Amino acid sequence: MNIMVLGSGGREHALSWKISQSDKVDNLYIAPGNAGTSSVGTNVAISAEDFPALKTFVLEKEVSMVLVGPEAPLVAGVVDFFANDEELKSVTVIGPSQKGAEMEGSKEFAKDFMARHNIPTAGYLSVTTDNLDEGIDFLSSLEAPYVLKADGLAAGKGVLIVDSLEEAQDELKAMLDGKFGAASAKVVIEEHLSGIELSVFVMVDGKGGYKILPTAKDYKRIGEGDTGLNTGGMGAITPVPFAENPEFMKKVEDRIVKPTVEGLVKDELDYTGFVFIGLMNCAGDNPMVIEYNVRMGDPETEAVMLRIKSDFVDLLEGIAKGDISSANLEFDERAAVTVMLVSGGYPEAYEKGKVMSGMETVEDSILFHAGTADKDGQVVTAGGRVIAVSSYGATKEDALATSFKNAQKIDFEGVYYRSDIGFDL
Ligand code: AMP
Ligand code: GLY
Repeated sequence: MNIMVLGSGGREHALSWKISQSDKVDNLYIAPGNAGTSSVGTNVAISAEDFPALKTFVLEKEVSMVLVGPEAPLVAGVVDFFANDEELKSVTVIGPSQKGAEMEGSKEFAKDFMARHNIPTAGYLSVTTDNLDEGIDFLSSLEAPYVLKADGLAAGKGVLIVDSLEEAQDELKAMLDGKFGAASAKVVIEEHLSGIELSVFVMVDGKGGYKILPTAKDYKRIGEGDTGLNTGGMGAITPVPFAENPEFMKKVEDRIVKPTVEGLVKDELDYTGFVFIGLMNCAGDNPMVIEYNVRMGDPETEAVMLRIKSDFVDLLEGIAKGDISSANLEFDERAAVTVMLVSGGYPEAYEKGKVMSGMETVEDSILFHAGTADKDGQVVTAGGRVIAVSSYGATKEDALATSFKNAQKIDFEGVYYRSDIGFDL
């Protein structure tokens, strides 16, 4: 079969790498891809959000399955575009409908979903300019620190955690005034949860069937010791030691995964693909949902794909047939990690177009390109997060030692990575 992956980051390179190992694949296309994805498939110069151009390509190349990497095309309705088109409706698109993508596209939608289905999460209130007074009172009723979230997509920047009540009330007003544009015309105020975070990925077939992928933890801050600004993610490890406890995972499955999967069906959200559940393990082994995303995590995917031994296309076909339960999902018992090399200055202003070297000297790691491009026969940087160095190991320490050794061999002007991934576990 011919498969197309939409997106251009490290996550899409890792998904494509895994898909390309399947005997079932004749041609693999990545739109638009990056300098790394062309080693496992064919890059196609079409934006993941240019639906008419995708249609022309899919028909011409007889693509029968499309896997959507990032959230933006899902929130923009790529699944509905295919389903509502006479010529395209036989093509399987792995991902939720536009309505289902609201699980990530609107914090309020996700919180209301959790409330409706009794899924443990922080208490909350949705605020617009119409109930600002209620919002100010709700903040006063909470204890510091205060959590304010723009309802809509804000490029990962829409969550503020502030220490003083006065600042929280001022920020609430600033957000409603357009601090994050239209995304913060509505703000969700949440109770603050403390604990350790965990990413749980669930593949769902839209009929109530599901498979839980290996657990992972990502490292979002730019600085060592989890300090400084938030980034798209500086590294990840899998498995997460505390989640290896079967009692803990049973709680996650019974209290969170099952009601989530059942809720998606009950609410008729036309949801297939991935549910990424961001969890906080609060005191006393008490998992609570922080957020849903409607896609795989990045950079978690660059570690998680290493631990899936089964044919990934079988799992995708299980989704297509509405029968994922019959697909085989076997894990590699080894640990896997990824370390992200980023451009100097990221996540603030940084320069692109830096020539990269040393990739060919890497041994025992797998490189997944994130922000790279081909320029006149050379690989150059083309984004903040540049390349992920993923490795296996008997333990996470072994895997990290391999990734750090290889990270040192890759060079470009301003290169930076965190050398403490996994430090807290
Ligand atoms: P979100 O975009 O909802 O995942 O929020 C971004 C980050 O803010 C999360 O990964 C958490 O680290 C933190 N966060 C979000 N909500 C809460 C909360 N209710 N309590 C504590 N931390 C939170
Ligand atoms: N690694 C977090 C995310 O993909 O949103």
